[in-house]
Amino acid sequence: MGAGKTTLGLEVARRLGREFVDLDREIEQAAGEAIAELFARRGETEFRVLEQAAAVDRLCHGKPSVVALGGGAVTSPAIRRALREHAVTIHVEVEPGLAWERVRGGSRPLAQDEGRFRSLYEQRLPLYREVADASARDVDDAVLGAAGIIVSIGALESLGELVPGDGPVALVADRHVAGIYGAAVQPELGRRLVSTHEVAGKSVDDLTGLWRELRLDRGGTIVALGGGTTTDLAGFAAATYMRGIGWAAVPTSLVGQVDAAIGGKTAIDLPEAKNLVGAFHWPERTVIDPALLATLPDAERRNGMAEAVKTGLLAGEELWELPDRELVRRCAAYKAALCLRDPYDRGPRHALNLGHTFAHALETASGYELPHGHAVALGLQAALRLSGRDTAPVDEALAPAPVHVDRERAWEALLRDKKGRLRIVLLGDDGAREEELPEADVWAALDALIAE
Ligand SMILES: NC(=O)c1ccc[n+]([C@@H]2O[C@H](COP(=O)([O-])OP(=O)(O)OC[C@H]3O[C@@H](n4cnc5c(N)ncnc54)[C@H](O)[C@@H]3O)[C@@H](O)[C@H]2O)c1
Ligand SMILES: [Zn+2]
Repeated sequence: MGAGKTTLGLEVARRLGREFVDLDREIEQAAGEAIAELFARRGETEFRVLEQAAAVDRLCHGKPSVVALGGGAVTSPAIRRALREHAVTIHVEVEPGLAWERVRGGSRPLAQDEGRFRSLYEQRLPLYREVADASARDVDDAVLGAAGIIVSIGALESLGELVPGDGPVALVADRHVAGIYGAAVQPELGRRLVSTHEVAGKSVDDLTGLWRELRLDRGGTIVALGGGTTTDLAGFAAATYMRGIGWAAVPTSLVGQVDAAIGGKTAIDLPEAKNLVGAFHWPERTVIDPALLATLPDAERRNGMAEAVKTGLLAGEELWELPDRELVRRCAAYKAALCLRDPYDRGPRHALNLGHTFAHALETASGYELPHGHAVALGLQAALRLSGRDTAPVDEALAPAPVHVDRERAWEALLRDKKGRLRIVLLGDDGAREEELPEADVWAALDALIAE
């Protein structure tokens, strides 16, 4: 009571593109009277019976939605079971004092007396903790919880508890990351750790090598510790090994923490094209420890900042200015919401391609010498210009220099990537939209990114 579930739930539902259900309102509608009257006339016991029936029906048979439960709903074992089996449950945390200030003087039958209110809070707290898959103080936390993502400084030190299940684990990491963090992670995984695998890249050979080394059964879990190269490869191995096993992503690069480890896309590169073969295979858990960014080389950090600026532009907030923990939490939540809304990349998620049409063209024209972040920074400038917007945020945060690549080669790569139709993601006042643009405009925007 007084935690702000309705306000938060409405906003989470909006971000996820789902219906919002306030269970108390549903009960009132079904009963034809307000909760306070229902309580007064029929007593708490009868109210709980109605509440249990409504909640179980919603959770077990309703279509996917965001449901706000009344504060006492968790006292019902049947509701707790339905939550465990059919829902991701988020505990909205609130200080009891603040909650009391919000509800005092209202009509809630169980919030008429502060002493009683506080003791109810104490009684229920263990139940909230028992049913919760995650806890949240704001909308971003709730979205992350729904996506199975934990963002926490020091999370690596409790990785053992965070990797789901209790079956055997195979740890996959590149040599550099394993050298820095392997010694901390291995004891955390304890007896569950049955093998460790070193990855060099995400080619077919890397994948074949990993497939053949794995000794897990269907109950096993792959833990991918590293940047996007590692999570893409290990995630795809998990998607395909024995027709699919579970995996956990532990992204260590900024690119991984704000982008690659979120959204369930996994892939390998072929000589013909990057990310040509892959699968949608959402990790069961994503554990993000922003403290790991302390050891990341500057050049890798810049790659990640380009994606953070992209995310901030889409979100309409300067997320890239925030300290690491908040930057990562907010960017990860923004992408997670889009991906939960559009898990198979059929519409809303296209927004994440902002700047990327140009970036891919420049990367290809450079023979992949150009770092992705530099290419994205330039691509964002082009996308902003085509959207009729100021490029200042990108200029100031990323200051990308124009690149020396062959114009014709870049243009051909762009046309091939777009398969003839020049649909470009543009930034409007209320978010991104795709628009088919005249060739001359797109050419001019690309041209401006290339040095004389
Ligand atoms: N699946 C997706 O949605 C998605 C999205 C974006 C990018 N990607 C993929 O991600 C890949 C790029 O990922 P990346 O930029 O993380 O590169 P990466 O995984 O190759 O890592 C870059 C370098 O940083 C090092 N590193 C990583 N974490 C470190 C740490 N904490 N301390 C010190 N060094 C560290 C690595 O050892 C490596 O040398 C590309 O293959 C791209 O296609 C996938
Ligand atoms: Zn990118």
